Amino acid sequence: MNRPAAPMVRALRADLLDFTGTPAWGDATDTAAGVRFRPDHWLLIDADGRIAGVQAAATFDPAPGIERHDHRGRLLMPGFVDSHVHSPQVPVLASYGTELLDWLNNYTFPSETAWADAEHATRSTEHFLDALLAHGTTTAAVFPTVHKASAEALFAGATSRGMRVIGGKVLMDRHAPDGLRDTVEQAERDSIDLIQRWHGRGRNSYALTVRFAPTSTPEQLAMAGALAKADPTLYLQTHVAENRDEVRWVAELFPQARSYLAVYDDAGLLHPRSVLAHGIWLDAEDRARLAASGAHVAHCPTSNLFLGSGLYDWRAALNSGHATSLASDVGGGTSLSLLRNAAAAYSVQALQGQRLTAWVALHAATRGGAEALQLGHEIGTLEPGRMADLAIWDWSAGPLDAERQRMARGLHERVFAWMTLADERHLAATWVAGQERYRRSPT
Ligand code: GUN
Ligand code: ZN
Repeated sequence: MNRPAAPMVRALRADLLDFTGTPAWGDATDTAAGVRFRPDHWLLIDADGRIAGVQAAATFDPAPGIERHDHRGRLLMPGFVDSHVHSPQVPVLASYGTELLDWLNNYTFPSETAWADAEHATRSTEHFLDALLAHGTTTAAVFPTVHKASAEALFAGATSRGMRVIGGKVLMDRHAPDGLRDTVEQAERDSIDLIQRWHGRGRNSYALTVRFAPTSTPEQLAMAGALAKADPTLYLQTHVAENRDEVRWVAELFPQARSYLAVYDDAGLLHPRSVLAHGIWLDAEDRARLAASGAHVAHCPTSNLFLGSGLYDWRAALNSGHATSLASDVGGGTSLSLLRNAAAAYSVQALQGQRLTAWVALHAATRGGAEALQLGHEIGTLEPGRMADLAIWDWSAGPLDAERQRMARGLHERVFAWMTLADERHLAATWVAGQERYRRSPT
């Protein structure tokens, strides 16, 4: 679609890193296909908040009247895409001593019941969205709670910040405590009302949000499947095959299903807008089915390590043809930082004898995640026409990583060391739709 050109209003100077394609697994060369590094360039932003172009600082000077933001010597990337995170779970970060099912019952469910109070949900959501921005994340697929007001708070809070979110009221009508269950009828009414008021409004998209198979009756899954069928523009988000006890429980609850994934497939919930978190304990047939449906897995490495869930086989996913995005899964995950999660993802692969390059990891956190969420035309790269959702990072934040940066012998080594050592303390600023929405306070 051709848009009339909006005037250029802002220019940002930094080292620009983004991806023009999908880097090959294991290619850690500086010239890997799909990697685009443009040191010391101006990124130009138009009045609609979109990227207007890129120019080398050596040969270009923004015209007078264009607002300049000089981040010379810093790294500018597209804002991160966190494809799976829970807005109410900040209070359960770093909860000691359990695997998934006990972690849910002992910590997470009790904590989420507090979101029945709409004011508390709204305040906590505002805090959560600001925290995403303070970690360099500009787009997220979010689970709030079962309470309708928690989804309202998410969409309203994201709208006031100009952020893109995918989310929806969590569906759960069994195996959860009082105050945290809905019914098929109420869940359907609330979901339809939220869809009508928020889906496609501004930068919001609605996701039918099945918590996981154990907390929805077959009737509730069928209801979600009917809504999905009625509107293929809706997303679907859930958890799958995260933990071995969970997988055994699902087999007991759904004895007729071939596998955990098949429970969702049988209900009509697998399609190109389906985001399935974890996917550790899938078999080859599941992976083939995921690939055929166009659905993808949100890989949650700090969560998988912290909860002792298992090691995600990224290579098998790649070979089967389904996509992998990167996610924090806070509060099972231990950090909202996708850099911390990228570093953990490297370790998860290393434990399986594989090598995750900085290119594959950072692609998954930006362009790859955007494409997996069917948003590649809008976000995830520094291509002209994309929304200017950006994060500006320091290459180092202390003497140790500064020294490591000085010693780096090439681009991949430099970026890999940065990815592995950096976190939110390296973040200088976050921009959303062409506006600065977070700036680190001076120390
Ligand atoms: N499975 C069902 N609910 C959850 C949740 O809140 N976090 C994680 N990590 N897994 C889940
Ligand atoms: Zn989760």
